[in-house]
This record gives sequence, structure tokens and C-alpha cells, in this order.
Amino acid sequence: MDKLVIEGGARLNGKIRVSGSKNAALPILMAGIMAENGVHISNVPDLKDIHTTTRLLSMLGCEVEYNPEKGRVFILPRRIIPEAPYDLVRTMRASVLCLGPLLGLLGQAKVAMPGCCAIGSRPVDMHLRALEQMGAEFELKDGYIIGRCSGLHGAHIQFDFPTVGGTENLIMAAATADGETVLENAAREPEVADLCNFLNCCGAKISGQGTSVLRITGKSRLCADARPEYAVMPDRIEAGTYMVAAGITNGELLLEQCPLKALDAVIFKLREMGLEITPENDGVRVGCSHPLCDVDVMTLPFPGFPTDMQAQIMALMTVSRGSGIIQETVFENRFMHALEMIRMGANIKLSGQNAMVRGVKRLKGAPVMASDLRASAGLVLAGLVAEGSTEVRRIYHLDRGYERMEEKLKLVGARIKRTEDK
Ligand code: EPU
Repeated sequence: MDKLVIEGGARLNGKIRVSGSKNAALPILMAGIMAENGVHISNVPDLKDIHTTTRLLSMLGCEVEYNPEKGRVFILPRRIIPEAPYDLVRTMRASVLCLGPLLGLLGQAKVAMPGCCAIGSRPVDMHLRALEQMGAEFELKDGYIIGRCSGLHGAHIQFDFPTVGGTENLIMAAATADGETVLENAAREPEVADLCNFLNCCGAKISGQGTSVLRITGKSRLCADARPEYAVMPDRIEAGTYMVAAGITNGELLLEQCPLKALDAVIFKLREMGLEITPENDGVRVGCSHPLCDVDVMTLPFPGFPTDMQAQIMALMTVSRGSGIIQETVFENRFMHALEMIRMGANIKLSGQNAMVRGVKRLKGAPVMASDLRASAGLVLAGLVAEGSTEVRRIYHLDRGYERMEEKLKLVGARIKRTEDK
């Protein structure tokens, strides 16, 4: 197991290229199961979750060529089988996204039920209820979700909550279902829109992407004659994380390939805290030359402030002037990083879904433990500004979602190295 060792206090300066989005790439790769004549996908980040997904696609019967250096994946479905085994699903919850495509394609799916997760219980009840409305039936047996249908049909569906994964599963199922599906209260996340654009590129008929009402007219076959090429959108959460890195170190970074529009809510809060964020021809320049101001943050589904940026903005707030409240409304247990930041000298009080953060003059380096992907990022950011040395342990979480983070940070001046955690 590896850990990151960070000597805090270095001002970051230089360019960082934002990688392709993990959360857009995962459903797009899963949708590759439906691309009859094959599909080329580019701007795919080199991440553990992407390697897991390509393995899963191979096990499901796709021919997969993955070139991590070039960020390219070619998927050609051969003889698709309907079973996603537990050994893979337990390492990556997003495996449940093959449910929609498998049901649409084969009329059956056997997918291991995703287990518990550090940030919340994360059930898939809304995925299943919506697929039932399209004609699927489910039973839970031996830890597997077993789904069957004799062809999916279009339906009028209303989600109780705009679930991201649920919306993606539904879109993929509806893309090849019989008739029109209207999905209300759909997730509006840019990654969902990217999946819709990808499917349209494969011949699907989806409208309303980016809004809360999606209309999907089912097509019996996707990519029947063509072999399209699609580039995944850049990662807005990675970009937001490096914006915070610039701010927390009083540095200046130029972020290339930064998805500015998808970051409105984040940029709004970071500017309120005093960061200077300026779009330029070759990227977005982020700097901070003043003391950081306090701010209140509530996480919400898009276009609200993303829960995936909550740990990072908390790190920034720990060294701001004044105090602010973070309200986490999306996941019920996403403050594990706060306890580790407190060990670094942060002044944070937790109460249910609220965290009151009072800025301190300085954080002190300490050994800390990452509990999930974004928590790890928050701890690395805290380590960049802390006095002395911070060791972030269990960084396999970080490797799931940030492409070569320590290399990117080192190139802009961070004193950070990866070592083995014995
Ligand atoms: N929920 C249910 N029932 C469902 C589905 C969701 O109760 O059937 C609840 C969840 O328990 C959670 C909330 O609804 O409390 C939101 O869950 P959602 O389905 O929207 O999230 P997800 O699809 O499981 C994706 C991202 C997460 C990101 C969330 C919210 C991927 C692969 N994952 O998860 O990303 O936090 O949307 O934006 O796209 C990350 O990248 O670190 C990460 C956790």
C-alpha cells in the first residue's frame, strides 16, 4: 500500500492539464456494451476505476483495447453474457451501471448488489423501481440483483431524487427500449449530459440533456453500421480540486482543458473566498493573493455545489479568516476527512449533516488516513498548506479518481512524494 508524504508551505505555480472525467467515462464505457459495431472512446483518464471497468467489459463479453497512455479505449461487443461478478462490483460501485445496458440488450442481468460505502448507505432502490416501470422484474438472491424482462418498453418515470447513477442506468436502458421514455426530475450533472451526447453519437435519440426532463426514443440497435469516436468531457472535480490547490498555497495555476461552465457553483464560492479565477485563451488562471474570506456551503445536486468538492473546500475553509458552515445534503456520512483535519489542527465542529469550520492561522502536518476518494483529496490539500510533514495513508482511494495527482502537483512546485506504507 502506498502513502503520500507532503512537506507543506510551497506556493504552487505553473500549468496543470485537467484529465478526462472519471464519472463521465464510467457510464460511457458501460454504454459501449450496446455499440453493435464498436466504438472508440478518447480522453479516458488512466485510473484504477477505469481499469476495473475495462476488465468488467471483457468479462461481460466485449473485445476491449485500452491504451492508458493515450487515454483511448476501443470496445466491440462480441457474445455478451449477463453477469457482473461480486469480485469486481465490490471494488467499484459504478459496476451497477451495467444493469440498464444488459437488461436492454439481453432481457436479463445478474449484477452483484453493491455493498456498504464509507460515505453513506447508497442504495439502488430508485434504479430498480424505474427499471420495473419499463417492464423489468427483480429479485435479490445470494447478494446478486437478478433482473429479467421480455423486452423493455418506454415509460413515464419521475425520480424522487435526481440520482446520478439511476438517471444513467435509465437512459441506457431506455436507449434501446421499445417506444418513448420520459424521465422527470432527472439528474442534470454534466456527466449525465455527456453520456446522452455519447449515446446520440451512437445513433440514440435523446433530448433534454442538461435539464431535469429527458426524452428518450428507443432504437432497436445502436452503432449498427457506424463505428463512432467520442471524447469524454474534462473532469470538473479534478479541475476544482486544483483551483483549491492554487488558493490554499497562495499560488497561481493555469488549468488547461478546464470545463468552466460545469464549475459555476464552485467558482462562485471560490471567488467569494477571494480566489481570482480568470478564463484565458489557453485555460483558466487561478490565483489568490489575499487572505481567504469565510463562506457557507450547501452541497446539492447539479447545478448546486457538488458534494464531490465538499472535502476540498473544507480544507480551504480551515485556513480562512472567520467561520463558515458546510451542510452536506447528498450523502449522510461524508465528513470523515473532518476528523483527520482536526488532527492537523483544524477547528471543525460536526453536528449531523453540518460542519462548522473556524479558520485557524496554520495547520500542522500529521499522519492522516484517507477514508474515500474526495476525502483523500481534501487531506492532500490540507497537507500542501500545513506546517511540516503530512503523511496521507490509504491513497488507493485517491488512485481511483485522480490521474497521477502527485506528479501533476510536483511539476507545479509541491513537495510531495509517494512511498510505500509499510
Ligand atoms: N440514492 C438512493 N437510492 C438510489 C440512488 C441514490 O437513496 O437508488 C441516494 C444515495 O444514497 C445518495 C444520493 O441518493 O445519498 C445521491 O446518489 P446518486 O445516485 O446521485 O450518486 P451516485 O450515482 O451513486 C455519483 C458519483 C459520485 C457523486 C454522486 C453525487 C459516479 C460514478 N459517482 O454517485 O461520485 O458523489 O453521483 O454527485 O458518477 C466520487 O466521484 O467521489 C463520487 C462519489
